[in-house]
Amino acid sequence: MTEPFPFPRDCPYDPPPRLAQVQRDAPISRVRIWDGSTPWLLTRYDDVRAVLADRRFSVDPTRTGYPARGPAGRARRRGAGSFISMDAPEHTRLRRMLITEFTPRRIAALRPAVERTATGLLDRLTAGRGPADLVQAYALPLASTVIADLLGVPYGDHEFFEERARVMVDDSASGEANRAATADLARYLGGLLQRRRAHPADDLLGRLSAQQVEPGRLDRAGAVSMAVLLLVAGHETTANQIALSVAFLLRNPRHAEAFRHPDGPPATAVDELLRLLTITHTGRRRVATADVPIGGVTIRAGEGVIAAADIANRDPGRFPAPDDPDLGRTPNHHLAFGHGEHLCLGHHLARLELEVALTTVLRRLPALRLAVAEEDLPFRHAHPIYGIDRLPVAWN
Ligand code: HEM
Repeated sequence: MTEPFPFPRDCPYDPPPRLAQVQRDAPISRVRIWDGSTPWLLTRYDDVRAVLADRRFSVDPTRTGYPARGPAGRARRRGAGSFISMDAPEHTRLRRMLITEFTPRRIAALRPAVERTATGLLDRLTAGRGPADLVQAYALPLASTVIADLLGVPYGDHEFFEERARVMVDDSASGEANRAATADLARYLGGLLQRRRAHPADDLLGRLSAQQVEPGRLDRAGAVSMAVLLLVAGHETTANQIALSVAFLLRNPRHAEAFRHPDGPPATAVDELLRLLTITHTGRRRVATADVPIGGVTIRAGEGVIAAADIANRDPGRFPAPDDPDLGRTPNHHLAFGHGEHLCLGHHLARLELEVALTTVLRRLPALRLAVAEEDLPFRHAHPIYGIDRLPVAWN
């Protein structure tokens, strides 16, 4: 009998213990997912990385055999999605249009703005006596403001776009709810792009309109899909990574101190948090388009693959003492941002936000602590983006 996947966690900061067992005993094995299909589960670092680097594994959710996360994923129509669910060469063509927007230099230049936003949010937070929810007061508005400003989306509309984004990334939502949320965001962002034609602006939507849409390199629908992807991928993930990292550091005060050091934390500190917490915890999903030998088995064309980056990031063959946090761990080539052609486009931005968010809040609030028992924190066990829905904290 094939085992049902995903497995339950024991500790909110560690992958499910069963995943570690599988990695030890049967690192490539079949599991049964929600729709009854039985994709391969890959758990070793080298195997996960090999799949993500191999073009014979497709990200197209409309292909037969693709292991969708839930009904919403299954409901997406061919060609209707954004480039995160497209293969080369179309993926390459579209992604290339955005590369210059996310270079390390462009992102580093955003640091003062990210710091101002973080400080402003903490000014507002500390104007009250607390306790307060650090997700709603800090992690989410920080991540939303940064991506909204970068795109040129008015932050004043954040409730509208956050609500739709939440439905879009929740694969347990119905296909209908997913389509409605996507259509709402597409209409909204389509309107903003349209306005850039008459009123050019020096923001990502403005540049996309002037440099890609108007010269005819990208049609309007393609530009809208891109904008939807960036807005959605740009805030839910980062907000959850910030909140979960704060909770983790509050339970590990020695590591929290590293962020309070006058010289800042070690260069790879945020990577260690990304590795340990790997919030995209339901695995990278792919389907083989040819017979491919991987780690001693042959994955046949049409078979689905779940590349479990969370447990691959704890592979003792790659990371010595993988379960022990080491903020100075070097090298730290984790897979929390994926790997290969679909490597997270926003990874420099996410690292910047995480470092600024953690450093700013921990320095400013030396007495920061949970305002509820840790076991009462609402961890997002069932959600494809792991994290915490609310993080009640006190600081006085
Ligand atoms: C792709 C994680 C923040 C934009 C990905 C993928 C992962 C990931 C694992 C690969 C998907 C796959 O291989 O199937 C994360 C995490 C983040 C984060 C953990 C925060 C801690 C961001 C931000 C942006 C962003 C801030 C802002 C623009 C994207 C885009 C893709 C992507 C556009 C698609 C890349 C492609 O398919 O070529 N992300 N991400 N992400 N991410 Fe992120």
